Amino acid sequence: MTKKFHLAQFLTHGPTHHSHGMWRHPRTGRNESGDGHWDEDAWSRPELYQHIAQVCERGLFDMVFFADLNYISDTFTGSLGPALQYAVQAPEHDPIPLLSFMAAATERIGLASTLSTSHHHPFHAARLWATLDHLTRGRAGWNVVTSLNHNQADNYGEERDPTELRYEKATEFLEVCRQLWDSWEPDAVVMDTETPMFADASKVHRIDFDGTYYRSRGPLNVVRSPQNGPAIMQAGTSPSGIGFAAAQADAIFAIQPRAEDAAAYFNQIKDRMADLGRAPEECRILFGAQPVIGESEAEAQEKQEEHNQLVPLEAGLAILSAHLDFDLNTLPLDAPMLERTEPELQRMRTRYKHPDGSSMTVAEVAQRHGQSVGLPQFVGTVSSVADQMEAFFDHVGGDGFMLSPIYSPGAIEEFVDLVVPELQRRGRFRTEYEGTTQKDHLRQD
Ligand SMILES: Cc1cc2nc3c(=O)[nH]c(=O)nc-3n(C[C@H](O)[C@H](O)[C@H](O)COP(=O)(O)O)c2cc1C
Repeated sequence: MTKKFHLAQFLTHGPTHHSHGMWRHPRTGRNESGDGHWDEDAWSRPELYQHIAQVCERGLFDMVFFADLNYISDTFTGSLGPALQYAVQAPEHDPIPLLSFMAAATERIGLASTLSTSHHHPFHAARLWATLDHLTRGRAGWNVVTSLNHNQADNYGEERDPTELRYEKATEFLEVCRQLWDSWEPDAVVMDTETPMFADASKVHRIDFDGTYYRSRGPLNVVRSPQNGPAIMQAGTSPSGIGFAAAQADAIFAIQPRAEDAAAYFNQIKDRMADLGRAPEECRILFGAQPVIGESEAEAQEKQEEHNQLVPLEAGLAILSAHLDFDLNTLPLDAPMLERTEPELQRMRTRYKHPDGSSMTVAEVAQRHGQSVGLPQFVGTVSSVADQMEAFFDHVGGDGFMLSPIYSPGAIEEFVDLVVPELQRRGRFRTEYEGTTQKDHLRQD
């Protein structure tokens, strides 16, 4: 049987998403897709996100997915100036309230958001996600990240922990959450108005968790939710991050610009899962992709060019500096990236290369990073974009894509209305939702 794609839509509650040209794009705020006019501040309005959720549900996506950060980065040049000037992941409003708005406007699509385990207490997270799972009727998804950036730690007045410690804490954090979600047995709510008995106290338990980093008595004051907590998502690339994701996640959001590297990452996760006794379909890996669709190849290439040149080099340097938590202003712009030895650069050093394998300069890497944050751009006509997605997917062996728009609204609608039917014709995408919850969609073949 041909393996089908899983599709999800990447969003932020801000003006840029992965494209630092999006907020300047002539189509953003001037929707030409037949859905009427959207003002330029639409990115801050719930109506836009309700519309996007409805479009993605029409497209039968597994989920819409929000990244989130709790800072404006001053890493590049030590100043907030570049981030604010170029809207480099700034502003970013809290996405979690939007999930409720989107739930009210949809029936089936999964609704996922990022919430960092750093700087919060697990009781708060367990309660929030159990509540959201109720409000969405089993469609909530939580991207459990640990947050790498010193700006975020500074906003909470805390130290930034080293990577391994962050994941050790995150593992315990999630264990507390899982115990709290389990603290209500499935049949604890009796609702007998005669007796009277609302809940059976023998079926609601304290957890008395006393760990290395967290303590919680419990029980949760939220009834067991439809999925018993949200679907768990993860995004991390270090050995600790991969170990955490392989053990805990129902889905992973991954960024790998080249199919060979995506395949290596995919195999690493699935091997790790097998070691832990998990079947491959228990955690779907969704690779970020930025589609650029045109009526002809030439038109698509023009669209790509138009979009990419909207990203100034300084914006690229600012976003890459933020992601590395390293000020690239200290490096010569023409230095070959592959030769850099700074420990902070190692995660990104080999991510971008020229097609012949030769090194890009710091400036070239920054420019690329500003355009799509490392997501491959699939550029062409509808059938050519579908071909490129199939080639990537088949090279990797699964599981699907996290799509990111170059303008919004408009780009998501084009994909759903044009590429989804093409993928369905090719037998590469579902024609209906079989289940009702976020986990059901992720598990569907
Ligand atoms: C694809 C991807 C998406 C991420 N999204 C977020 C995010 O939305 N918010 C956040 O605070 N961190 C995010 N992170 C950062 C991770 O939380 C993590 O701190 C960082 O990747 C360092 O861990 P690692 O060394 O395991 O990759 C993301 C990381 C990756 C790889």
